[in-house]
Amino acid sequence: MTARIIDGKAIAAELRTSLTARLAGLSFRPRLIVVLVGDDPASAVYVRNKDRAAREVGIEPETIRLPADTDQATVLALIARLNGDDSVDGILVQLPLPPQVRPRAVIEAIDPAKDVDGFHPLNTGRLVDGEAGIVPCTPAGIMKLLASTGMALAGARAVVLGRSTIVGRPVAALLLAADATVTIVHSKTRDIAQECRRADLLIAAVGRAELVRGDWIAPGATIIDVGVNRSTNGALVGDVCFPECVQTAGAITPVPGGVGPMTIACLLENTISAAVTRRGLD
Ligand code: GUN
Repeated sequence: MTARIIDGKAIAAELRTSLTARLAGLSFRPRLIVVLVGDDPASAVYVRNKDRAAREVGIEPETIRLPADTDQATVLALIARLNGDDSVDGILVQLPLPPQVRPRAVIEAIDPAKDVDGFHPLNTGRLVDGEAGIVPCTPAGIMKLLASTGMALAGARAVVLGRSTIVGRPVAALLLAADATVTIVHSKTRDIAQECRRADLLIAAVGRAELVRGDWIAPGATIIDVGVNRSTNGALVGDVCFPECVQTAGAITPVPGGVGPMTIACLLENTISAAVTRRGLD
């Protein structure tokens, strides 16, 4: 049996269409500010994609570019200005930041109501407590992909590979809120492959090219691959060895075209939700 492919590109396109319709019913255009510090080439591509996707659904995006040697005080002063600007609905500071700027200081400076990444401790705290708040974009996108499969999460054994603040930890909190039995596997876990074999649902988010092999997964398992890596021959691959795992899994996301498009669509959704909530319209 080969797995069903979860088409993130199509599901993200559907979401963007519904967001466009939602925006058409509003009397204002939400304003999203993306801050890019430095010239990391991957970040520049991500920021361009976010800007274009926002414009397409009817959000008004603006990218503020700062030189790589910008000091932390300057970034914090910019955040303070954006927090105080009532025309700004969403603030996103692209990570990673240059070494002289502490990401934690920047994230904590953003008004939680405008924190469309959902990284501020108030929003992550709400997430861990199972309360409503702004949910980080990639984990939110993963939950929508899972909803599209119809998989019952209550009681399912979910294994999250990776404990990053951007993906691993928040997606584990969301799965727990959905009543899954959640295991977080990380670099100090004793037998990673054995933990993965017990999973009904495996979320791979470690940034290691094709780490998850075909014999790591249970027959029929659902596999969500968050990784975006270059293989040794230069091809774009995930954290999961797709050609092997597609033979055994029940459903699997491809790379590219799986989780990636959902992240941006969920950023747009977060921006609209933040704008609507801030105006007391929800
Ligand atoms: N860098 C990689 N992923 C992300 C993300 O989701 N948000 C931000 N701000 N930076 C990132």
